[in-house]
Amino acid sequence: MRHAATGFAANSGATKLILVLFPQFARTGAALKGLIMVQLINAMTPLDEARAVLADSFDLKFSSAVKKSTADIYDRVKDKIPEIEWAFYAPLIFQINRLKKKKDAVILAHNYQTPQIFHGVADIVGDSLQLAVEATKVEQQVIVQCGVHFMAETSKLLNPEKTVLIPDSRAGCSLASSITAEDVLAMRAQYPGAPVVTYVNTSAAVKAVTDVCCTSSNALDIVNRVEGDEVIMIPDQYLAQNTAKHTKKKIITWAGACEVHETFTAADIAELRAAYPNSKIIAHPECPPEVIDAVDFSGSTAAMINWVKTEKPAKVVMVTECSMSDNIASETTGVDFLRGCNICPHMKRINLENVLWSLHTMTEEVLVDPAIIPAARAAVERMIEMSKKGD
Ligand code: 13P
Ligand code: SF4
Repeated sequence: MRHAATGFAANSGATKLILVLFPQFARTGAALKGLIMVQLINAMTPLDEARAVLADSFDLKFSSAVKKSTADIYDRVKDKIPEIEWAFYAPLIFQINRLKKKKDAVILAHNYQTPQIFHGVADIVGDSLQLAVEATKVEQQVIVQCGVHFMAETSKLLNPEKTVLIPDSRAGCSLASSITAEDVLAMRAQYPGAPVVTYVNTSAAVKAVTDVCCTSSNALDIVNRVEGDEVIMIPDQYLAQNTAKHTKKKIITWAGACEVHETFTAADIAELRAAYPNSKIIAHPECPPEVIDAVDFSGSTAAMINWVKTEKPAKVVMVTECSMSDNIASETTGVDFLRGCNICPHMKRINLENVLWSLHTMTEEVLVDPAIIPAARAAVERMIEMSKKGD
């Protein structure tokens, strides 16, 4: 992975303005650099520079041809995206879809991506398990991962010979950053012989010291299938606690949490029930156990989508990331989606502009240390194999 730039640099237009307003800052360039935040399109490139290159390289006008060729897509998202915004998105979608073919690229997008990505440019959408499984079948030479960094790393592990791009490598995850490979080795030393089941929301280095990975859709099954009565399940304490309630095995966990789901409380669910009587409330298993105990269904993002499509509740609250209900609203007529969600700031680092930039410049490439690929890949492949047996 390339390291993220600091995000601070001088910007000529803004610099002049600051100097006029606060001439004392002219004394030290260093102070100015610390004061002015330049917006970046990804971890490396200033947004204004990238926009100038994109404007020179692509026709980004909302022409009648663009309007016509994106009309089907707009039909799916029109309840979520006003026409005025569509005029900005449609040309980007048109150019991304064209460039994708030219560059022999496929776009894998997580269920938490915005509707304009999910419906507009993604070739494959799904939860973490589905995206990992689909990554093993990809025929194109280039994978653009619209999701967070650990997802792109998983695609790279499964396709070491292909080019894997992430539109912004700063798209992290609070779970992935909560634990290191050294932490896992220390746990192994503390609980000798206990198998390590690691949530895919971790770095490749952590996966490399793991026995088998899991996702929220197969966690219980994987825990029940590994050898022994004691299992180390890391790094999500809540997924581990929610799994522990359904297995006889002793679960040892780590103090990691998803910053998006850990903030939901049982009191929030009680408030939602009072505010929206007769609605169903469903939640992701990264929520604390008292939240899961209070809801009508819990499952991975794909399981939540399937539940809504099958049960077709008249009203539903999806206690998870906000794009989930936006993405499936057009596929589930007759279901009223009520708000009770949080935004994942990491998922939202990916947008149409940086997807186009990523394909145009072939950045940012996701690289994994070749020394750890075999062990990390084996942990993911074991999970995929064990999930197939569970079908
Ligand atoms: P899913 O595997 O359920 O899609 O979850 C991924 C994730 O990051 C949820 O926060
Ligand atoms: Fe990570 Fe939570 Fe964002 Fe998922 S929603 S990517 S677990 S921070």
